[in-house]
Amino acid sequence: SFVDAHLPGFERLGPGVFRIVLGSPETITPVQRRPAPPAWDRFSALPEAERTPFLADEVSFRIHARGCTVVLPYSPDEGVFGLGLQLKSHLQAGKKKKLRVNADPLADTGDSHAPVPFFASTAGYGILVDTARYVSFYVGTHARPSGIASRVKEKWDSPARSTEELYRSQAIGDCVVIDIPAARGVALYLFAGPAMGDAIARYNLFSGGGVLPPRWALGNWYRTSSSHDAADVERMIGCFEADGMPFSVLGLEPGWQSCFYPNSFVWNPQRFPDPRAFLGRLSARDLRVNLWENAFVHPECPFFEAIRPHCADELATDGLVPDFLDPKACAIFSEHHARLVDQGVAGFKLDECDNGDFVPHAWSFPEFARFPSGADGEQMHSLYGIHYQNTLHQVFRDRDRRHFDLVRSSGALAASLPYVLYSDLYEHRDFLRGTVNAAYSGLLWTPEVRDAASTEDLVRRVQSAALSPISLINGWYCELPPWRQTNTKLNQEKIEMQERDEATALVRQALLLRVQLVPYLYTAFFDYYSTGRPPFRGLAFDFPGRKSVWSEDRTLLIGRDLLFHPLVAGEREVEFFLPPGIWRDFTTGVPSLGDRRLRVTDIPVGRILLYVRDGALLPLANPDVPNEIIPHVFADDSASGSLYEDDGCSYAFERGDYTIFNLCWHRADGLSVIQTAGRKTGLATHLGQVVTRCEGTR
Ligand code: GAL
Repeated sequence: SFVDAHLPGFERLGPGVFRIVLGSPETITPVQRRPAPPAWDRFSALPEAERTPFLADEVSFRIHARGCTVVLPYSPDEGVFGLGLQLKSHLQAGKKKKLRVNADPLADTGDSHAPVPFFASTAGYGILVDTARYVSFYVGTHARPSGIASRVKEKWDSPARSTEELYRSQAIGDCVVIDIPAARGVALYLFAGPAMGDAIARYNLFSGGGVLPPRWALGNWYRTSSSHDAADVERMIGCFEADGMPFSVLGLEPGWQSCFYPNSFVWNPQRFPDPRAFLGRLSARDLRVNLWENAFVHPECPFFEAIRPHCADELATDGLVPDFLDPKACAIFSEHHARLVDQGVAGFKLDECDNGDFVPHAWSFPEFARFPSGADGEQMHSLYGIHYQNTLHQVFRDRDRRHFDLVRSSGALAASLPYVLYSDLYEHRDFLRGTVNAAYSGLLWTPEVRDAASTEDLVRRVQSAALSPISLINGWYCELPPWRQTNTKLNQEKIEMQERDEATALVRQALLLRVQLVPYLYTAFFDYYSTGRPPFRGLAFDFPGRKSVWSEDRTLLIGRDLLFHPLVAGEREVEFFLPPGIWRDFTTGVPSLGDRRLRVTDIPVGRILLYVRDGALLPLANPDVPNEIIPHVFADDSASGSLYEDDGCSYAFERGDYTIFNLCWHRADGLSVIQTAGRKTGLATHLGQVVTRCEGTR
């Protein structure tokens, strides 16, 4: 019983952003409940693009008994990326994905901590399907919802008559079918390029622009064991200092609370009898504290009765489930958190907001739950991560304080929210793919480190975390830091391993590299804020026209000038695509010619495959001298780079209080520093002696 609906044309919303409304869309959707307005003022950073990739009358739409279906034209030559955090696959062309929030995404089906109904095509456009339903995307399918595709006719004319013939043609089809249950209509948002990366950047600016974290959050993070009390945590800090490990953020796990699963959201009086003094002592050592929680409320919580009428009619982990689409629930929840923030807490880890089915006890609310805002459990799962994030984000906004936190679920229009995704899964290769894929949908991801199968596994994991949005070691069940014992059981028995010194040195090396990179990364994040271009992204983002990079699902481009190819344990030689131009080894400066696959052999565990674009000047922190930046030059004769500075912690930058410097170096004339943007004047940091890395060419 298909009915053909009337198809209106595209409506232009802003530069290169168009909308098409099909049927009668639902009111509980990502765009209609968006956390931040579009950053229209920043669109001038993108190239002009006023053409839609296809005509409105090429889109077909049908409403039927179980929901509605949209068919978009698609060419089998298009590479398609996105659909949120996809840990199991990179290129989405030729796949069917049912986007469903799930804490345990074990297969390549579309289940994800952070599914996003947005995809980008190498043909130079992006599409956001504005729905909170468990929507399915058939990308490049032959399966049209009605009618007979020409290909079917061809097949009927020459059917397979042997197994070889049957498997010969697995060609991708010529449409994208989007199947939305329950809804009687949907709005599509279309982002023009011209290149795929521009379309994604446009989507990110439409989401409110990329996030700029506080500068301290770009240092290294460690989360201590849930069983630790204040004295244990401080002993742990002593251990970091003894081992020379530079950490800026300390995370406390569930045990900081008087009760958890569900939560009281109040300090445990035995473990942390004087939280203010504890936070003060850590702050004196330049350590910020981040607290674990999930959203589910226990009767011991001071706001239990107040929030009760603003919760779902079902429980999760036996606690109340606040309705984050209900402003009253948000106000009650944030008022309590504001007190923790005013005590000195720097941020929160928003755990388990990602639906936890497939287990007998309810880690989350069911799809049939009803919320006071009118959302059902399915819609709420798609929006819960975003609105939980936004509720706590407003606490910091109100105080003009930036934060950068962890979250286990996210969704559409997330780019401006200061949160990074992580998972309980632990396959290193999937974790690396996560960093790459997150960037195609406005998300950030950390391949956090816990225990490890060997010293090598630990070191490779730490290297990949150190070169990701948050450099995080999550020792939530470790009694010793993992570089002293990688094996969980022995770690919990506090037995140190023989290779402890070797592991310590290699982990320290990776964490110090991260410290050096902070000014460069901070500048890259400002670029994310102002242009929508992600600081960490896969090669397909910058080189969509090269089919050979569509399968490169772990090489990362970081900022404008760095390329990182992470390794997993056991790899002694690798081959990967080096983009056009000359790239220099970060440590030695030795150049390699790009636009080809580079083969690297005999790689020791301590070697990090990090390359710098020839001609780049990287502003790097001096780990030994606070506030000193050392310009590192990767060129023979001349190099340039930029450095972004602001107060590092407030939103004053949004009001123009920042500076961007262009740092230029010429072999003959030395270094020159020119301010190119921003209202503030003068460098806040001290510039050290230029270091040149041009070995191998002169
Ligand atoms: C998990 C989370 C872990 C840790 C643990 C504490 O859900 O992914 O990182 O926080 O809870 O119970």
